[in-house]
Amino acid sequence: MQDIIVVGELNVDIILDGLPSFPEVNRERIASRMETVLGSSSAIFASNISSLGMRVAFIGKLGMDDYSELIIDNLESKGVDTSHILVDAKLRTGATVILSSGEDRMMVTYPGSMNHLTLADVPVDVLRQAKHLHFSSFFIQPGIRPQVGDLMRMAKAAGLTTSLDLQGDPDEAWDFDYAAILPHVDVFLPNESELLALTGDTELPAALDKLARHSNIIAVKCGSKGCLVSHEGDSFWQAPYLNAAVVDAIGAGDSFNAGFICKFKQGKTLPECADFANLMGAISTTAVGGTMAFANKCIIMETALHKFNQVIHL
Ligand SMILES: Nc1ncnc2c1ncn2[C@@H]1O[C@H](COP(=O)(O)OP(=O)(O)OP(=O)(O)O)[C@@H](O)[C@H]1O
Ligand SMILES: [Mg+2]
Repeated sequence: MQDIIVVGELNVDIILDGLPSFPEVNRERIASRMETVLGSSSAIFASNISSLGMRVAFIGKLGMDDYSELIIDNLESKGVDTSHILVDAKLRTGATVILSSGEDRMMVTYPGSMNHLTLADVPVDVLRQAKHLHFSSFFIQPGIRPQVGDLMRMAKAAGLTTSLDLQGDPDEAWDFDYAAILPHVDVFLPNESELLALTGDTELPAALDKLARHSNIIAVKCGSKGCLVSHEGDSFWQAPYLNAAVVDAIGAGDSFNAGFICKFKQGKTLPECADFANLMGAISTTAVGGTMAFANKCIIMETALHKFNQVIHL
């Protein structure tokens, strides 16, 4: 039995870090560091929630190349069950090149195999072996995108709880049928700009009002402002754990998701879920990439104590 099944995209992040500023067209900049690490929102979530102590399996699709080996080795080293990841020799594993300068990023993604995952790759008996389904990166997975509502319904029918992080829409069209899909999502996890783009509002309360009839819990990630949680017409702000020395914000949202769902599955109250989620988001900003700060339970607990003065037990 798994606690969490993650269905989603897999790729590597090639991070060029420490830029003095972003390059202009036809200009060059020198980065002070380069790392090739596990990327993709879904994989960072899976890796980090596994580090928090949950049993996690992943369903996704890879090409047969060095990047797919790096991804599988990384997930397995964190204890994620990769036996349901399909490897297709005809495909190439995708990559995101990230230019990172402080809390800001520029990204270019070659999707590769992440375009090819479909609902047919998600065996219902594998879903049934888990207690919770997480799905992320709706707009960049054209193969499964039209069937995400069906996926959520399937999971609910199989007795799982569900969570969804849309992530950004590179086309800026924000074509997501929230009235049809969100009723089957227990925890919706957008960030502030994604939520506003989705509903076409300029203020969060108006956006939340629009979704209220269709949704269950919504946790809106607001960067260094923390998060806003809404449920059954009530909402509250949860204060952040400020990190004055952000290394990068890559994966902060996915680490937040991991913290929130970890506590949600432990039956904690919404303020407890939101507080732990903020702490995990902040911890993510203390190291390069999305998973470096979550190497193991000891490192997570030490960072919580020494950087944020919080005693946590994992
Ligand atoms: N500078 C910071 N200091 C402290 N906490 C932060 C900081 N930046 C982010 N966080 C924490 O991480 C959470 C998620 O960050 P953010 O709002 O950037 O998500 P996101 O935009 O979805 O990120 P991602 O690009 O990883 O998907 C925030 O809600 C907050 O709790
Ligand atoms: Mg995000």
